[in-house]
This record gives sequence, C-alpha cells and structure tokens, in this order.
Amino acid sequence: MLRTHNCGELRKTDAGQTVTLCGWVDKYRDHKGIVFIDLRDRYGRTQIKFNLADDSDIQKTAWQLRYEDVIQVSGEVTARPDDMANPKLPTGEIEVHAAALDVLSKSKTPPFEPDGQNLPNEELRLKHRFIDLRRQELQQAMQVRHRLTKAVRDYFDELGFLDIETPILGRSTPEGARDYLVPSRVHHGEFYALPQSPQLYKQLLMVAGFDRYFQIARCFRDEDLRADRQPEFTQIDVEMSFIERDDLIETIDGLVAAMAESARGESISLPLPRYTYHDVMERFGSDKPDMRFGMELVDIAEVAGDCDFGVFKNTIAAGGRVRGLNAKGAADKYSRRILDNDFKNLVGEYGAKGLAYFKVTDGKLDSSIAKFFGEEQQRSIIQKLGGENGDLLLFVADSDKVSSAALAALRNHLGRDLELYDPSEIQCCWIIDFPLVTWNEEEQRWDAEHHPFCSVVPEDVPLLETDPGKVRALSYDLVCNGYEAASGSIRIHDAAVQQKVFDLLNISAEEAERRFGFLLEGLRYGAPPHGGIALGLDRWVMLFCGYDNIRDVIAFPKTQRASDLLTGAPSTVDDRQLRDLQIRVVE
Ligand code: AMO
Ligand code: AMP
Repeated sequence: MLRTHNCGELRKTDAGQTVTLCGWVDKYRDHKGIVFIDLRDRYGRTQIKFNLADDSDIQKTAWQLRYEDVIQVSGEVTARPDDMANPKLPTGEIEVHAAALDVLSKSKTPPFEPDGQNLPNEELRLKHRFIDLRRQELQQAMQVRHRLTKAVRDYFDELGFLDIETPILGRSTPEGARDYLVPSRVHHGEFYALPQSPQLYKQLLMVAGFDRYFQIARCFRDEDLRADRQPEFTQIDVEMSFIERDDLIETIDGLVAAMAESARGESISLPLPRYTYHDVMERFGSDKPDMRFGMELVDIAEVAGDCDFGVFKNTIAAGGRVRGLNAKGAADKYSRRILDNDFKNLVGEYGAKGLAYFKVTDGKLDSSIAKFFGEEQQRSIIQKLGGENGDLLLFVADSDKVSSAALAALRNHLGRDLELYDPSEIQCCWIIDFPLVTWNEEEQRWDAEHHPFCSVVPEDVPLLETDPGKVRALSYDLVCNGYEAASGSIRIHDAAVQQKVFDLLNISAEEAERRFGFLLEGLRYGAPPHGGIALGLDRWVMLFCGYDNIRDVIAFPKTQRASDLLTGAPSTVDDRQLRDLQIRVVE
C-alpha cells in the first residue's frame, strides 16, 4: 500500500502518529512561505502543512504543486490550535506536518476545478467527465448507487429470487419507443434490436418455471431525451409467478423500504398508499402526482355553467371542464405580468387557451373578470376552493385532458415556487387501475397504455367489446415525488383474452406472430399466472440524492442529443467495417 490512511479518516485521537497519505491537490495556499494544501481522495480531505526551511527539497517541490497533482505525503498528525480548527471538515481538528513528499503524477492545468464552485457548462464537464466525477456530488451519487444495487440484490436474494441475465442482442420488444438496431455481419440485411426492457424474456422465464426473477438490467430506447430520461438506462426488473397484484405490490413496498434504508438511512412507513388512476387524475390532474403537498384541483362546473363569463359557460356547454386550484396566501406574490405572461405560457404549453385568476379580498373575488360572477356565485367558488382573504385562485377551462395537464403543471410549479414542501423529503405512492387502452385521436385507434400483455380487471373483460376506454388494466405505477419511478402489470396468460386485446389494438394475428411469436408460442406450453414490474434505477438514485438531473447519477451519461462527449460516440466507422456489414451510408 502506498498509504497508511485515507484522506477522510484522521482525527484528533491520531495526533502524534506518523502517517502516509495519497491523493489529489485540492486547495493550495501559500501563507508567507508556509504552504498549506488540502489533499483529497474519495473519502475526504486532509490539510497538509509544509513548514520547512526555504531551501529544503520538499519545500521547493511543495511550492511547485498545482491543482490536481497526485502526491504522496508522509508526516506527523498534529492537532490544530482550537481557533484554527475547521468544523466543516471531519478531519478539521488535525493537519499533517509533511516530512516527505513524492509527486506521483503531475496534472495538466485542469479545464475546471472539481470543487463544485463556479461549475462550467455541462458540455465541458461531460467532455472531461473523469475530472467532473471527482466532484463531491458525483462521488456521493456513485456511492448511493452502489449501496442501492447492493440492497436490491440482498433483498431479492433473501426472498429466493434468482438474478438471471437476458440477451442484449435480441428482437424488438413492445415498450413502444424506437429501437437501437445492430446490423448482423453474418446475416446480411438483418438486425438485432437492443432491448427496451427484458419484458418478453422475463415472461418466458416464468413459463420456464423460474417463479421469482430479478435483474439489474440495461435498457436502450431511442426516444426524445429529457432531464429524467437517458437513451440507455438501468431497470430493476422483476417478475413473479402464482401471485396476484397485491402480492407484487407488497413485495415492492418492502424493496422500496430496503432501498430507502440503505441509501438514506431512512425508514419509510408501509404500506405505501395506493390511489386509483381516476382518483389522482381528478385530484391532481396527473397520473404521477407529487404527494409532498396538497393544493388539489377543484371542479367548479356548477357555477361555471351558470355564470356570465363566456369562456367558462361555453366550455361547460361544450362538455369541457372548468377546474382550479387555490394558491394559499399568494394573492400578492405574483404581479399581473407574471400571471398574464409566465403562468399563461406555462399552461399554454399544455394546450390551455388561457388562465383565469382571482384574488380573494374581503370575502369576494377580485379580478378583471369578477364582474361576470354574481355575489352568490363568488361565495360558492370561494367556498369550494376553501378560499380565504389573501388567497389566489387560478382556473383553466378546457377539455378534461388539457385542463388536467395544464393544472397539473401549474400545481407543480406553484408547489415548488411557494415552497410548499421540503425538497429533501421522499413521498411515494402507487397508482392502480390504469385504463387498459387510450384513444389515439391522430391515428383513430386504441393504443395500449402500458404494453399489449397487461391483464384486465376480471369484471371489465366484457367491456373489451362494448366500451374499451372504460376497461381497467391490472397495472400499477409507483410514483415518487412526481416522477414515474416504476411501472408494471399482471400479464395475460390466457390465449383467448390475449387475442381479444390484440383485436382491440388492431394487431393482426400475422403481426402478433411476427413481432411476439416466440412469446405467444411460449404461453401455449403451460404458462403460470404471472406479473412483474420494473423500477427505473437511475431515477431512484436521483430521487434519493435529491438531484433533478438523471445525468448526475450516471458515471458516463449521454447528452440531450444522445452523444457521449467524452468518447465522441456515436462516430463514423471504417469503410472496411461497413463493407463487412454490407452497409452503405447514403449522403
Ligand atoms: P416502463 O417502460 O414503464 O416499463 O419502464 C419502467 C421504468 O423504467 C424507467 N424508465 C427510464 N429511466 C430512464 N430513462 C429512460 N429513458 C426510461 N424509460 C423508462 C421509469 C419507468 O417507470 N417492461 C416494462 C415493465 C414491466 O411491465 O414489468 C417496462 O419497461 O422509471
Ligand atoms: P379574454 O376574454 O380572452 O381576454 O380572456 C379573459 C381572461 O380569461 C384572461 O385572463 C384569459 O387568460 C382568461 N381565459 C381565456 N381562456 C381561458 C380558458 N380556456 N381557461 C381559463 N381562463 C381563460
């Protein structure tokens, strides 16, 4: 070992010991000829003091040290005088008085300091990710990630689950994003698809009798990227046989508690609350509501249909909805300019044509459109929204879909802006009873809400033929702080029901055979009732660390445009490689 201790472990009780430390030069200060540096490794930082005769070799070398040089230092651990202690550092009560110094590796002048201050743009950081990864936040994220995956493995092992790997080079899966394709050299003109998830393989593992499966699986999806999405990401993938929905949910409740315990040392109270899709859409306008705060949506159809404000009245007459929310005590928080521009644009992004708002003053509505509401109507609106003087009431009149999406976004914005919750808190809940299918207006057909293998709530099976939009799936999402953090379902194991669902989705027998023939064939040879779920591991790490960018919890992430700035992927390839594959790039 080149060191006796790491840079985070020395304390006052170690004073007097001679130690050797290795690490990176983090801070460098020259105090009238006495050189102080902070030596950094992944365990922490320790102050080193060089206080030697000016002409000593060590002192000369110390003067030449620069940020990010890697050095080895030996010397005596010395207690700092009380007034020199640094209470912010765990090692802040001591320093090491250097007696020997070896420069193990000089660093070029780094393009930025990994000290977390004055962070340069993300592009530069991703390009030099090996330096960026030295930052405390990222070091922390990697540690949380490690602890989390270990907790997951231990939890499932304890319960008798088997960790089974599934292929990366495979066939297209049904998650619905665009596939990443890999050309075959052996079979000209044919392609593998990278898995969007191990969905079909894990169902076949159930057919094969492995009744409890899990895998920490890489998944690949060529889709538009956002702050919570990467083109390659990791799922905690789970499948179980001979179970019902509640068994699966309970198993995952336990997993979430184990993850929170390991990542945050926090105990989560179980069972996690469960809400139906219908319930949360009504109350929050979203199937991934942030449960850290209230501010629920309120329907004022009765008053709106009867008032003199054309927008409200006509919306109700046309079968739309008028709903609003109460930003408590915020009457004077936002200027007209913010309300009429910023907030209106925010709801406009979701298709809302406008935003109506009122202050509550002297028990009445106060706004340019208040005159369209009679006294009784004003009282009724205020009462429905639990309004008090000083509150700000905001309304969107539109279709169910648009008003839900717009108000949900507004609610999230207000929750954050009005600091209605502690951002370090974690609040998870289950959403159950999703619709099986949603109507695709553009293409005039039913789309699977999750994927075509979701089982149906038994009493809803007859509705498949009469009122498909009302059919509930035996599916469930796990939502955490407003993010979809997991999703799954009980699967169809009955060929006749599967056929009905394919019919509804307009998937012909030939197409089903072509796309999922191997799964359907498997299901014909004795398929146990089964179901499962997949948790987005990256999202959980992000949530547990309190970050809002998924790239901050992935060692080597890709940009919004799916490039890896560090290695320069994707890149062109040699002509010879293309010739082998019989592929020609069209200019
Ligand atoms: P689904 O497609 O909902 O379900 O994915 C499961 C979970 O994976 C996470 N996730 C992502 N995380 C980061 N970047 C992405 N691009 C990304 N896409 C999804 C989310 C999501 O909830 N096979 C089914 C699961 C099942 O039915 O068992 C599936 O993949 O947290
Ligand atoms: P207008 O009559 O279009 O000037 O609108 C008067 C007020 O009603 C403005 O504050 C608009 O933002 C608001 N408004 C217009 N359309 C809607 C709508 N669909 N839902 C809620 N408020 C609206």
